[in-house]
Amino acid sequence: MAAAEKEEISVEDEDVDKKIFKDCRKIAFYRRQKQWLSKKSTYRTSLDSVTTSSTSAKFKITNEETEVPLLAEVYGIEGNIFRLKINEKAPLKPRYEVADVITNKLNTIRLTSCSEDIGSLLLANGTGDLKCRILADPFQIDLVSEEEVVMSINSRGQLYFEHLQIPLKQRLTKENEADAAVGTSQENQDDLGLWEEKFGKFVDIKANGPTSIGLDFSLHGFEHLYGIPQHAESHQLKNTGNESAYRLYNLDVYGYKLHDKLGLYGSVPYLMAHKRGRTLGIFWLNASETLVEINTEEAVEPMPPQMGPVAAEQKVKIRTDVHWMSESGIIDVFLLTGPTPTDVFKQYSYLTGTQAIPPLFSLGYHQCRWNYEDEQDVASVDAGFDEHDIPYDVMWLDIEHTRGKRYFTWDKKRFPNPKRMQELLRSKKRKLVVISDPHIKIDPDYSVYAEAKEQGFFVRNHEGRDFEGICWPGLSSYLDFTNPKVREWYSSLFAFSAYQGSTDILYIWNDMNEPSVFRGPELTMHKNAIHHGNWEHRELHNIYGLYQQMATAEGLIQRSNGKERPFVLTRSFFAGSQKYGAVWTGDNRAEWSYLKITIPMLLTLSITGISFCGADVGGFIGNPRAELLVRWYQAGAYQPFFRGHATQNTKRREPWLFGKKYTQLIREAIRERYALLPYLYSLFYHTHVASKPIMRPLWVEFPDELETFSVEDEYMLGSALLVHPVTEPKATVVDVLLPGSTEVWYDSKTFVVWEGAHTMKIPVALDTIPVFQRGGSVVPVKTTIRKSTGYMTDSPYGLRVALSAEGSASGELYLDDGHSFQYLHQKQFLHRKFSFRSGILINSCADERGHYPSKCVVEQILILGLKKQPSSVTTHSSDSSDQPVKFMYCAKTSALKLERLSLNISADWEVHIT
Ligand code: NOJ
Repeated sequence: MAAAEKEEISVEDEDVDKKIFKDCRKIAFYRRQKQWLSKKSTYRTSLDSVTTSSTSAKFKITNEETEVPLLAEVYGIEGNIFRLKINEKAPLKPRYEVADVITNKLNTIRLTSCSEDIGSLLLANGTGDLKCRILADPFQIDLVSEEEVVMSINSRGQLYFEHLQIPLKQRLTKENEADAAVGTSQENQDDLGLWEEKFGKFVDIKANGPTSIGLDFSLHGFEHLYGIPQHAESHQLKNTGNESAYRLYNLDVYGYKLHDKLGLYGSVPYLMAHKRGRTLGIFWLNASETLVEINTEEAVEPMPPQMGPVAAEQKVKIRTDVHWMSESGIIDVFLLTGPTPTDVFKQYSYLTGTQAIPPLFSLGYHQCRWNYEDEQDVASVDAGFDEHDIPYDVMWLDIEHTRGKRYFTWDKKRFPNPKRMQELLRSKKRKLVVISDPHIKIDPDYSVYAEAKEQGFFVRNHEGRDFEGICWPGLSSYLDFTNPKVREWYSSLFAFSAYQGSTDILYIWNDMNEPSVFRGPELTMHKNAIHHGNWEHRELHNIYGLYQQMATAEGLIQRSNGKERPFVLTRSFFAGSQKYGAVWTGDNRAEWSYLKITIPMLLTLSITGISFCGADVGGFIGNPRAELLVRWYQAGAYQPFFRGHATQNTKRREPWLFGKKYTQLIREAIRERYALLPYLYSLFYHTHVASKPIMRPLWVEFPDELETFSVEDEYMLGSALLVHPVTEPKATVVDVLLPGSTEVWYDSKTFVVWEGAHTMKIPVALDTIPVFQRGGSVVPVKTTIRKSTGYMTDSPYGLRVALSAEGSASGELYLDDGHSFQYLHQKQFLHRKFSFRSGILINSCADERGHYPSKCVVEQILILGLKKQPSSVTTHSSDSSDQPVKFMYCAKTSALKLERLSLNISADWEVHIT
């Protein structure tokens, strides 16, 4: 929200939040569902209505009280996915269905049906190992895998569907108007918010009346659930009880409270459940306001008496119930059946797409502030990095760079010559990112406004006029990005010819796109505003921000005639946003607790597909002390998106302003980030093609180890590095869980080796970043760090080889030009594989399809865990004779170092250690 707006209210933060934002009890559809469900009315399936086709099975379900029929469709989708859709059989008018999220044309598989008995129907997928059992009365679906029920749907009887009704006004005839007026006020008295809902001074008039939906899922044997960002909460989802819920409603929450279930800037209505031996996913494709209740229970499952008392005891089973409720739309839910975490990641990205490979520069360090004042300020901050020998790649400009917050323009006084400024940055092979928000200042002389107005490109209010709301520029209208024509037009604004002062090193930041409307209900848009296709804002609120990022990314691609990869950071997001760029966690605070919460928040984003994510380094609000700032840089250096940012009126905090000692520590952290870029970039490629997130919770890498399931103060970066950032002040020691009973772990600085399956007390000083390399891995790095990634294209590589207990290791390197789509269209990339076994390190091709002419060499090789000193080391390659290599061996650390090598990265070669 607007800091200034908030400062106007002089009460404690918490009260401010309560006044501005709703809790569950203030949400009418929540109250309605609760009230109705307590009455226990049921739905039954008409099994005689079942029809099966090559793509789906359809059947009718009816509520015993209302008798309104619903149509259910079950689809089997390639890759062990089921889809269940429930809609009204004959709605008064179409209900909103989310478009533009499901990327693939889904390959459905024929479900074969076989009646089990009179009361149920069994649908099996092609191989028959997954089954879907539909029970008739009451309606229930069981998902059966390998003869075990892993999930039940509607077993708690929480299916809820408010069917569309003729608007109240039309129902009234002249004669009964008086009676109906009584009826209306009764409805409001009941406080069920059917046609009208009040919140503070806001009244939401609902032209379509009540439209909410809900359904429950019982996950048998599961108690560990993750996902449904965005909340400032733990990684593992907590039980909500029955009077609160995780809320998914994109909101602008300045300095959000921690450990809260209020929805923040973006929403991914998708969660994963994990237990030993199986991982599942539930993807609830709905873009309206959504609430999720989660409750874990121990349930005693009735056993046939002949099984005896022992069996009965064994049948005390844990179960987690998930109850989804949405304000509108239809029930459209995908059940991802795993069985492994990796399978579930693949299944989810098959539906929504994988993380786009970003341009390499965007993995470097970004320097932002609200605001860098003017061109001189930019030049001096830029020079500061060089003076202090700190690499960085991107300078950022916030809203003040524009003429009165008119995006696509420049403040002439502050930035008289934006191209000159960009040329300065270009000369250092650096980039510029500027902000572009979705609100457009109402000013007929502002061409973006005038054009959009003329073309009818703004969201409309319920009276049919352009919606007007207040944001940074004052009174503004909001572009309707849900309209493909608006997106097309918006994309065209990024053309170099249209965007005066822009060059090809300028990239974009989409902010305030929840959308944020300062005096609107909960600081956002009125739910009865109208979008393209006559849809109410309530139907699609949570996907609005995704559409802006989509249009921006497309604009950046188009301005280069389809050649260059875009970079777009967005604050608001939805399922599928990973295809368009990066996401950050908004307005956090410069406090230790906010540093700590970055890990669970980013892990949650990561497992829901959004790998390219980060948090404002240093904390956006407030002034971090030097120690906190250092610790934040150290943590941020190992997070996918790495940007320092601070709000207005905070003290300047460029990395060199805290004294030499701290400058040195921040420099080291950022330089280590740059050293790791080859590894990180390879991980992005991997997540792009194979869907596994970059920042991984430990349970993803160690799915059978119970003790990893709730860990959220450390994580795996890829499969090779375990990172445990220090997030406590004055820390002298951290407890690090090193998982895996057969694993060995190497401290990445001291090379000390630890056995897995232990929690270690690791001593830390202010220069310690606890990072451990997993035995069995090879991490490619750059050995020379320069001003920015652009200067490092030809810098040599190093390989950090950490041997497993068996003395072997493997790893990969992906590389391409770092900015274009040639990797895709021309297969211009290199994908190399490194493997070490029986004393031989081999560099070989991992993907014959790729070719990229790199002159880079591997200059250093470090091998950790080599038990004895070698007598000789030689290199072997097809294009030169075998060469002996000088080496250094340290018996204390069992580390072998090879230096001054000159082994071409793109050629096959071997290093023999005997
Ligand atoms: C809110 C964003 O979260 C913040 O990062 C930005 O600096 C301000 N808007 C001003 O644009």
